[in-house]
Amino acid sequence: MLTQINQRYLKIVVFISSLVPIFYIIYQILTNQLGPEPIKDITHHTGKWTLYFIVITLAMTPLKKITKFNIWINYRRMFGLFIFFYASVHLMTYVGLDYRFDLASIGDDIIKKKYIFIGFSAWLLLIPLAVTSNKRMMKILKDNWKKLHRLIYLISLFGAIHYLWLVKRDLIEPLIFLLVILILLAFRLKFKNKYFS
Ligand code: HEM
Repeated sequence: MLTQINQRYLKIVVFISSLVPIFYIIYQILTNQLGPEPIKDITHHTGKWTLYFIVITLAMTPLKKITKFNIWINYRRMFGLFIFFYASVHLMTYVGLDYRFDLASIGDDIIKKKYIFIGFSAWLLLIPLAVTSNKRMMKILKDNWKKLHRLIYLISLFGAIHYLWLVKRDLIEPLIFLLVILILLAFRLKFKNKYFS
């Protein structure tokens, strides 16, 4: 079993590892290693990592049930916050770098492009989760905390659909993301029925 000190070190390692994708893209920007469309590259990188962190976060409870180790749950909130972090960098790339804060055009995009609408909705839904992610809010909200944080299921589907709607040709990758998310959500339903019915 891991001692408390080891667990703390492990948490720091997991935290720093989760920052690697952002350091990697910063390094690529600073060393001019991005392609002819650098803003597109940054948008794609941060969008992908938002989805990866969604999958990682959703996998924590199934991993706990399968391995019977509680340790996975220690990282769930941290990974959840990384979803918000990468989604916000992704959004800011689009708002700040792509559209240079042209709010009228951005508003237009949100209304007219369904993939932007659903991506933006996912980001909006992440805000209450990020704001209430600390222990103090857990205590204040009690049972409602769990109910509120179930929004992650909807957010994960919105994220996968956003990807599915934005690709023009090769649907394989977004479909794989959607499938993995659906499997993880189905897993949760299965355990819910098994233990709570
Ligand atoms: C939970 C929220 C979100 C997730 C999971 C997500 C995920 C993704 C993914 C996976 C990609 C494609 C990456 C690739 O092709 O390699 C992408 C692209 C993109 N996303 Fe998001 N996104 C989210 C929110 C947003 C928001 C809030 C906006 C802006 C309002 C946005 C705008 C875009 C744009 C403009 C692209 C590039 C489209 C293109 O290639 O033309 N996304 N996103």
